[in-house]
Amino acid sequence: MKFYITTPIYYVNDVPHIGHFYTTIAADIMARWKRLNGFDVYFLTGTDEHGSKIAEAAKVKGKKPQEFCDEMSVKFRQTWKLLNISNDDFIRTTEQRHFVAVENIVRILFDKGLIFKKKYEGMYCIGCEKFLAKKDLDEGGYCPFHKIKPILQSEENYFFRLSSFQGALLERITDVSHEEHIDIQPEERRNEIVGKLKLGLEDISFSRSTVEWGISLPFDKSQTVYVWTDALINYITAVGYSKDETKFKNYWPVDVHLMAKDILWFHSVIWPAVLMGAQLPLPKTIYSHGFFTLNGSKMSKSLGNVIYPQELVGNYGVDAARYLIVALIPFGLDGNISWQGLTLKYNTDLANNLGNLISRTLKMAEKNFNLKIPQAFLNLELAKNVEKKLKETFISNMNNLQLHKAAEDLQDAITLVNIQIETDVPWKLAKTNKNKLAACIYSYLQAIDVVAIHLLSFMPNIAEKIWQITGASGNINDVARKYFINGVIPKDGFSVSGRDLQGPKILFPRIL
Ligand code: MSP
Repeated sequence: MKFYITTPIYYVNDVPHIGHFYTTIAADIMARWKRLNGFDVYFLTGTDEHGSKIAEAAKVKGKKPQEFCDEMSVKFRQTWKLLNISNDDFIRTTEQRHFVAVENIVRILFDKGLIFKKKYEGMYCIGCEKFLAKKDLDEGGYCPFHKIKPILQSEENYFFRLSSFQGALLERITDVSHEEHIDIQPEERRNEIVGKLKLGLEDISFSRSTVEWGISLPFDKSQTVYVWTDALINYITAVGYSKDETKFKNYWPVDVHLMAKDILWFHSVIWPAVLMGAQLPLPKTIYSHGFFTLNGSKMSKSLGNVIYPQELVGNYGVDAARYLIVALIPFGLDGNISWQGLTLKYNTDLANNLGNLISRTLKMAEKNFNLKIPQAFLNLELAKNVEKKLKETFISNMNNLQLHKAAEDLQDAITLVNIQIETDVPWKLAKTNKNKLAACIYSYLQAIDVVAIHLLSFMPNIAEKIWQITGASGNINDVARKYFINGVIPKDGFSVSGRDLQGPKILFPRIL
């Protein structure tokens, strides 16, 4: 089975911040999870490089647009590498493969009479890269999102007959039994889209005559393709549209388009209409997560309250940064983050719960068994309890993108082991019953291994480290894949007696 998941392609006018990181990490966790479950995964991210916003940003830096994009796009790649993002592809809209796909689609729509020429006058917001209606502006006439005044533009453009898709879209979005059903999540966002759709659709501008930095229309070289149309098409370019039919058939339609609510309309209305126009299959799920604010206000460079992923990594390390950002905010809802909140979560979940579990187990093994896994009777009861706890909710939470809940499930599983340790009081057993102590430690290690396997998608490096620390056999990824496919703990467990327990005793130093 295949699983194709995408993030938005990000504008290169700025470097990646934690908003971009949030979507990308969520997609990465899903991609890793599906791979562990035996899916043939295609995980796509990339950069959106055309349009007036980028052309202006390049001008401000005194660079040619292409040169500027080349430099900025690398910054996204580097950041995703730092964060251990496992994307299978990274697309840039300035690549040749994308030009070909855009030209083909636009030509098909034109030949079908879905694109026509019209004179148009409207207020264009360069931040949104779209025309805004009067009702979209705030009292001062500003774009409420970018706090800039849209510019009055009058152009003769090519328009796309979006209005003719209203009924077909409504049907596919609301009727779950429709064979081309588009599942928009979460439900509240779907309702908003449906509500807006019911009010009717207007045809939209599909090209620009005043923007040079873009892909020329194949049938009128004096115009370039509207940057949003250009951008959305990336999702089919990457899986081989008009280049590699086998690949395209294998991966398209996409299983999940992930993004925040700011661009849900483009993905759930305009994009499916374009696909329908070109008679291509429609996305299965479109998932919009919330928007987050920092210390209660919108993140913005001018307010000086932007957090960059590199800062998170500097404070907490790569894996903790990956975990914290998804564990903190209910996926799908808006949320507020602060450095204080992040550090508190780090200390509670990682230093005090997970970190403490590992370090206390290691300390006991060091003091009593010279840091070797004791030869003992294998009791998998605790490991099975941990497994049972995780099976109850973790799997469905992961499959439904409830990542913050899945993180909670992990914490509950870790707590279960910590509670067992408190109940056993192993430090007393050290004096009275060393055999029992050996069996206890051995069983804690097996339980920790089960936790590590489930942590893998969130914290791949830490999970691997834990695997080494507990002396578990085999490569954790291979073992985890087998485990998720078979659904049972092997009868000999994971950690092997007699092995050395190795690795750092403190995985997550407490932050004061
Ligand atoms: N280039 C378009 C997308 C084209 S996709 C065919 C674009 N780019 S963007 O750089 O502005 O990225 C927007 C996306 O970044 C959001 O939809 C979301 O995925 C992520 N986020 C940016 N800021 C965010 C927050 N403050 N909170 C959550 N996600 C945020 O739009």
